Amino acid sequence: MKKVLITYSSKTGNTKKLVTEAVALLGEGYDIDIKTIKETGDYDEYDLIVPAFWIDKGTANKEAKKFIEKIRNKNVGFLATLGASPDSEHGEKVKKNVPMLSHESNNYMGFVLARGKVDPKLTARLKFLPLPSSIKDQMYEASISSREPNEAEFKEAAEFLKSAIEKL
Ligand SMILES: Cc1cc2nc3c(=O)[nH]c(=O)nc-3n(C[C@H](O)[C@H](O)[C@H](O)COP(=O)(O)O)c2cc1C
Repeated sequence: MKKVLITYSSKTGNTKKLVTEAVALLGEGYDIDIKTIKETGDYDEYDLIVPAFWIDKGTANKEAKKFIEKIRNKNVGFLATLGASPDSEHGEKVKKNVPMLSHESNNYMGFVLARGKVDPKLTARLKFLPLPSSIKDQMYEASISSREPNEAEFKEAAEFLKSAIEKL
C-alpha cells in the first residue's frame, strides 16, 4: 500500500479540520499519517507528501514554506485554507503562488484551496495596520465574511487525495 504523509501547519484550527475531515471521508484502505510540520522528521519512506497550511500574505505561511522548499524528488500535493474567497482577485493570486512552491524535481500533483475563518483577534487588529485604507477595507470585508471550511470542501480534499493516491 502506498504511504502518504499529510503534514500540517494550523494556527486556529481551520487547516487541521480540513485535513482530519478529508481523511475521515476517505475511510479504510489507505495508509495515511497525519502529523504537524513541527513533529515531522524524516519523510523518505512516504510515496506522497501533502503539506497542508494556511495562507499568509498570499502564499503558504512561513513554517510550511520552509518545509515545502526542502522537498526533493517526491510526489507532492497541497491542501490550504485562506480567509478570502478563492474566486476573488486575491484568491486567484494565491492559486498562482502555491503551485510554484514545489521544487521542479518533485512530481507536483495539484492542490485544494478551501475557506478558513479568520481569527476575530486578527480582524480587530486590521484597523491599526500601517496600510492604505482601501487595502485595509478590503481585508476587513474578506475577514468578516470568512467562514470555516465546509462539507463540500472536505469532499473536494478527499477526492483530491484519492485521485492522487490512485496515480502513484
Ligand atoms: C498573519 C495572517 C496573515 C493572513 N494572510 C492571509 C492572506 O494573505 N490571504 C487570505 O485569504 N487569508 C489570510 N489569512 C487568513 C488565514 O489564512 C485563514 O484564516 C486560515 O484559514 C487560517 O488557518 P488555520 O485556522 O489553520 O490557522 C491570514 C491570517 C493571519 C493570521
